[in-house]
Amino acid sequence: MNHFISLENFDLELIKNLIDDAISFKRKKAYPNLSNRYISNLFFENSTRTKLSFEMAEKKTGMEIIYFDAETSSIKKGESLYDTVKTLHSIGVECFVIRHAQDKFYESLINKIDVPIINAGDGCGDHPTQSLLDLVTIYEEFGTFKNLNVVIAGDVVHSRVAHSDAKILKRLGSNITFATPEFWRDSSMTMGTYTSLDTAISNADVVMLLRNQNERHSKQYDEKNFLELYGLTKERADRMKPKAIIMHPAPINRNVEIDEDLIEASQSRIFTQMTNGVFARIAVLNYVFNS
Ligand code: NCD
Repeated sequence: MNHFISLENFDLELIKNLIDDAISFKRKKAYPNLSNRYISNLFFENSTRTKLSFEMAEKKTGMEIIYFDAETSSIKKGESLYDTVKTLHSIGVECFVIRHAQDKFYESLINKIDVPIINAGDGCGDHPTQSLLDLVTIYEEFGTFKNLNVVIAGDVVHSRVAHSDAKILKRLGSNITFATPEFWRDSSMTMGTYTSLDTAISNADVVMLLRNQNERHSKQYDEKNFLELYGLTKERADRMKPKAIIMHPAPINRNVEIDEDLIEASQSRIFTQMTNGVFARIAVLNYVFNS
């Protein structure tokens, strides 16, 4: 049985196959047939892109979605995640897409319930389908990961996107630089060097911005001056290489992480990332059900 929990222990060949699959689904508009397979999306943290692009991927493959709403579910009566998943599995759900605020929430499920789990984001931990769509976006652009200079900027310590992406991009041969304020450095992230966006920008192939994870902060920071001090201003963007790209997993705090005029600029791939998310997730569903 295939879970999709983290890319950390994934074979690199398998990851390359998933990227190829996603690109081929996007080009050919032909998708695997998963009709009569039952899936549930359990989101315990807010989501627009991830939840609805999973739903789009599920519909494009003909799946049956058993809808779940945490707010009106028995979770509100104190039912545990384990009991919720066990219940839905008992009534016939064959796969779960789960987002949860708790790091490694899946440890209470895998090896205990015999059903595939897809991690749609665990706390500050991992976000493997976001990583896959980011890899697809970078690969479409450059055709390789080797020796690309990837600058990951902003709230590194709280961002599961930073954690997932830095680990897999490093394994794929990219050079990782963290351009992060002193107070959001992550000492466990040793696969990259630390510097400022000002210093790193002119050498970057990929400028990957992160959302400031306000819901995970215990201390206030100076949001008003963040763009000037640490974000992607127009002045910094002017110093990017002509072929370098801008990425952001979104949602975006406009004029905090990035000047809003750059969001749809020609070097931005932010909406391409969202488009690619659907095909990356079709590739993951195909992997879970068909391999
Ligand atoms: C990310 C997430 O939830 O981790 N969003 C997403 O899935 N596109 C990024 C974020 O919210 O910061």
